[in-house]
Amino acid sequence: MDIKNLIAKNINYNNIDFSGMVSENLDKSMGDYSIACFSLAKILRKSPVQIANEIKDNISLGSLISKVEVVNGYINFFLNKNYFAREILKEIDNNQLFEKDKNLKSKTICLDYSSVNLAKYMHIGHLSTTIIGESLARIFEEKGYNVVRINYIGDFGTPFGKMVYAHLTWGSEKELEERGVDYLQDLYVEFCKRATDEPELEEHAREYFKKICDKDPVAYPIYLKFIDISKIEAKRILDELNVHFDSWKGESAYSDELNNIVSQLNQKGLLKTSQGAQVVDLEPYDLGTCLIQKSDGTSLYTSRDIAAAIDRYNQYHFDQMIYVTAVQQKLHFEQFFKVLELMGYDFASKLSHVYYGMFSLPTGKIASRKGKQAVLVDLMEYSKNKVNQIIAERNYSEDKKSEIAKKIAYSALKFTPIKNERIKDTVFDVENAFSFDGDTSAYMQYTYARICSILKKANIQTSFEDVDFDKINSDCVSNLIIALNNYSNIISRAVEQKEPSIISKYTMDMCKLINKFYTTEKVMTDDITSTKSKLFLLVCIKKILKKLFHLICIDVVDEM
Ligand code: ARG
Repeated sequence: MDIKNLIAKNINYNNIDFSGMVSENLDKSMGDYSIACFSLAKILRKSPVQIANEIKDNISLGSLISKVEVVNGYINFFLNKNYFAREILKEIDNNQLFEKDKNLKSKTICLDYSSVNLAKYMHIGHLSTTIIGESLARIFEEKGYNVVRINYIGDFGTPFGKMVYAHLTWGSEKELEERGVDYLQDLYVEFCKRATDEPELEEHAREYFKKICDKDPVAYPIYLKFIDISKIEAKRILDELNVHFDSWKGESAYSDELNNIVSQLNQKGLLKTSQGAQVVDLEPYDLGTCLIQKSDGTSLYTSRDIAAAIDRYNQYHFDQMIYVTAVQQKLHFEQFFKVLELMGYDFASKLSHVYYGMFSLPTGKIASRKGKQAVLVDLMEYSKNKVNQIIAERNYSEDKKSEIAKKIAYSALKFTPIKNERIKDTVFDVENAFSFDGDTSAYMQYTYARICSILKKANIQTSFEDVDFDKINSDCVSNLIIALNNYSNIISRAVEQKEPSIISKYTMDMCKLINKFYTTEKVMTDDITSTKSKLFLLVCIKKILKKLFHLICIDVVDEM
């Protein structure tokens, strides 16, 4: 129920549009909602108090509002709590609150995220793109959109020339079979180390990269094997995190499109030669120079992205395509969006870049093998062990314990990049992230588990018809009901701003209200009507929490 809008619509005063002027009060003793009349005073040349009183006389509010009060320049609205609670719980019970916008079903949003560079470890930075992307996908789906999840894997480029050369020169087939991605990572690091003393290695790498492009009978199959091994590993990790893609079409699929892109750009007179390379001058748009083709004739990250965007538009006819990467790639996306626009592709306006800040660990917490950043699987392992220690004393079977530990551990990891606005840098709080107290995912999971446990212990069937709304109209419950009612608004805001943290904050606030409810009110009492009413409220809350957890990639745990 859009209460603000309902209030605004029911005021008939000087033809003023009151939508946007109604706000929810923090202090509910002054009413649940209010309108401040100060901004109208200048326009109407009357005092705010006079205006507020006149408005009060021109309101036709049905059952929703029980009382309207004027205090200073404010009009305060008191909700008819019983009526309101009845409407909301009914909407939750019959799922009306979760109805998707049917008009959006035919609208497709392509989401390009995770998009890891293969043959290297996934490091903790990949958690951000993976989870922000996945959370956005789920939020758009909840709103009603058709979502296509694309993992645009980095399966092309000179690093593969380096690795194939290194493998053939000092590597071992047996080690490749046995150690997989670990071996590939070592090969790469070793190459870089040797190349500092033997610069000619770079030349060999280029040569081998060219061989890969030309499908050389020796180099190409090895490259394909590298891709296979690392793709299987990436899939395994993403499966663990419960993230699945519709497409894994990566960069290599677009390397041969370069000629086509170059000729289109030439036809439009957009290309210039600069030091042997082909570039588009974007200085007039303050976007620098955009490299399209290297001097040796090979494609670049940008040219492949241009080709991929055209291909995806032809395949999916998307209404939006969103790329999720670190903020460092901002210029790259601005540049190629502009080039597509200059090429005459109208769909360029449907592209957007969703960027985020840095994700890091406190130094020294987890050794970062050989690369610069900690490896994701190491962090996943570390987290599971940590939670296992916390729940070691619990009375569950070993299987149950490890299932719970995994859900708590991974949820804490997944929650980190979407807990705050995505542009903020985050340091993973190794000490507190798994704590059941504080602003953590474990706290929210605990809240959910507690509801499950109360419902299970009570073992009483309840339905909407059993509810006596006089038994659930305390201030504490009213705040909860107002929060439940905000569900659709919150989803819409998260969609508009492409910002999962809006859902995170909302879910966290709701969990706090639920815990406050437990501490101020008893659910199980001798008054069976009250008990049944409160149990039904919990059933509704549980339903909404489960949906919210899904949206922010937190696993549901029934008992903790
Ligand atoms: N593979 C790239 C990287 O690791 C990210 C790709 C993002 N998507 C894109 N279409 N450019 O930095």
